[in-house]
Amino acid sequence: MSTSQMTPNKDLAEGFAQIGALFAGNDGNLDQIYREHRATMPVMQGDICAELGAASFAGDTGRPIYTVFKHADVMLVLRDTKTFTSGILMETGLGQFLDGLMITGLDGDEHRQLRGILQPSFTPAVMEEWREAYIRPLIQRYFIEPLIPLGKAELVSSVGVMFPIHVVYAVLGFQDDDPAALELFASKALKVLGGMANDPEAKRAAFQAFQELYDPTLAAVQARRESGATGADLISRLIRAEFEGRTLTDHQITNFVRMMLPAASETTSRTFAIMLTHLFDHPEVLERLRADRSLMRKVLDESVRYDSVTTFKVRETQTEVTLQGVTIPRGAVISACVASANRDETVFENPDVFDIDRKQMAAFGFGFGAHMCIGIWLAKVEIEEAVGLLLDRLPNLRLDPDQPRPEIRGVSLRGPDAVHVIWDAP
Ligand code: HEM
Repeated sequence: MSTSQMTPNKDLAEGFAQIGALFAGNDGNLDQIYREHRATMPVMQGDICAELGAASFAGDTGRPIYTVFKHADVMLVLRDTKTFTSGILMETGLGQFLDGLMITGLDGDEHRQLRGILQPSFTPAVMEEWREAYIRPLIQRYFIEPLIPLGKAELVSSVGVMFPIHVVYAVLGFQDDDPAALELFASKALKVLGGMANDPEAKRAAFQAFQELYDPTLAAVQARRESGATGADLISRLIRAEFEGRTLTDHQITNFVRMMLPAASETTSRTFAIMLTHLFDHPEVLERLRADRSLMRKVLDESVRYDSVTTFKVRETQTEVTLQGVTIPRGAVISACVASANRDETVFENPDVFDIDRKQMAAFGFGFGAHMCIGIWLAKVEIEEAVGLLLDRLPNLRLDPDQPRPEIRGVSLRGPDAVHVIWDAP
């Protein structure tokens, strides 16, 4: 694939913006709203996303919904997987399309066993291998080098939207010589995410996208199995993976791959853009990072605490439970507000200050407990590579003074719509 073929895909960037708009809502004074909730109504009957006019990941199940705002309660909800189960995500989330095989919606032993098979393919050591083999060369070649002569760019559409999808495509072991296949893969991933919204047309498009992804993915899995599955790529690893005597069928691997696409793309794209925005908003941090790349992880972790991309986690109560004096019935939907918990003043000192040197405390941007993001190390490595390469290869990278500053917004999905930059082109 020549670098010129990797011009931004307009449809893809538009799809990304539409999804952002759907989940944006009225986010004018979110920090204040959440602060007031933590102080006066830390458990609220109702869905704050709906109140703020944003599409909600809690879906429309007809059951009572409670939103929880405090760090301690969000942690409890995510940690106590017996009382607060995830099966509801099969109804409200992507499980609707995945034949019940969506890991985020599994509970108990079923989840533990699947997680046990998958986990060894996502360790930091595997990511270091992929960093060198796939991630750095790919980002450099397809996303950074074409920018160098331009002197200016909008980084969400030219880099952010596409690079995580390309990374997933590469680590799955798909051949990198068919740009049309890659873009098809990418546009389907976005349609799948659009299906999260309570919109029948978006759901229909998501269902269709999932169907269309099935056959080519299954064919790739079968071909890899037939050829011995000896490679370092993810599909080969999943074919070889074993836990407590169990292995994955081709159907299970195909479903995991389909499920992974939306989990790994949108989240990473927006987190990359959030991190860049924080760097440009805090020039002193940017200067420190330019001088010392070992700070990259701290900047990323603080960006994810300060502005998590997915701001709510959804669970269902298996028993009646009392939180902060509010009795919640069995069978209720809990919407755990990560965005509020990550700024809880009882846990984080000066929580509304972006401080990369702050004391590390549990934050929930990548989840917590049994369902904590399995792709956390992959996401971190690819974002670090993308940001690092931008700083290395685009001298004096800075915001474009002729364009609006990036603004992180959104109630149920956060991120800036655009990050316009300039640099000293050769
Ligand atoms: C910055 C990027 C990312 C963010 C912010 C993020 C966030 C999250 C969060 C918050 C959860 C917990 C969901 C819950 O508790 O209900 C989760 C789970 C998950 N994530 Fe990520 N994610 C990112 C990237 C990725 C990537 C690159 C992958 C690729 C494999 C991935 C795969 C998954 C999977 C499979 C789960 C389900 C784990 C389970 O249920 O056991 N994510 N992610």
